[in-house]
Amino acid sequence: MKNEILFQATELFLDKNLNPISNYANFTAIIMEHVEDLNWVGIYLYDGKNLFLGPFQGKSAVTLIDMGKGVCGIAAKERKTMVVDNVHEFTGHIPCDCNSNSEIVIPIIKNNQLLGVLDIDSPKYNRFDETLKTELEALVKLLVDIL
Ligand code: SME
Repeated sequence: MKNEILFQATELFLDKNLNPISNYANFTAIIMEHVEDLNWVGIYLYDGKNLFLGPFQGKSAVTLIDMGKGVCGIAAKERKTMVVDNVHEFTGHIPCDCNSNSEIVIPIIKNNQLLGVLDIDSPKYNRFDETLKTELEALVKLLVDIL
């Protein structure tokens, strides 16, 4: 079932007139609050060369990720969503929170420009099924429309 509150809260708290950092910050908080079984939700921003840590919810994390490295760097470079059912089996995964067992990374692209990625970790294996993936991708589309 679609988590309508995720979309309603995003429309309520995010605003075109705000600095994007404020929108990213509330976006991560909304996901952390309304999606079950997550331990880390954050944005890595693209500076034209690498990804650097932006607003997030969870434990302190790696601050710089090279394009093509880790799950985030691959998603950013290939501009496609990456779902990792078991991070311990993914070669090149960059560990941050030792409680993470599965992960999804969705690129944030506006007008064909890469702005960054949304990175979400779960303590549950296989947390990001097709339904949740589709829902989170739709939520990122809404974010991009607002930015
Ligand atoms: N696991 C990510 C690094 C970021 S943390 O999960 C917060 C990766 O492999 O790119």
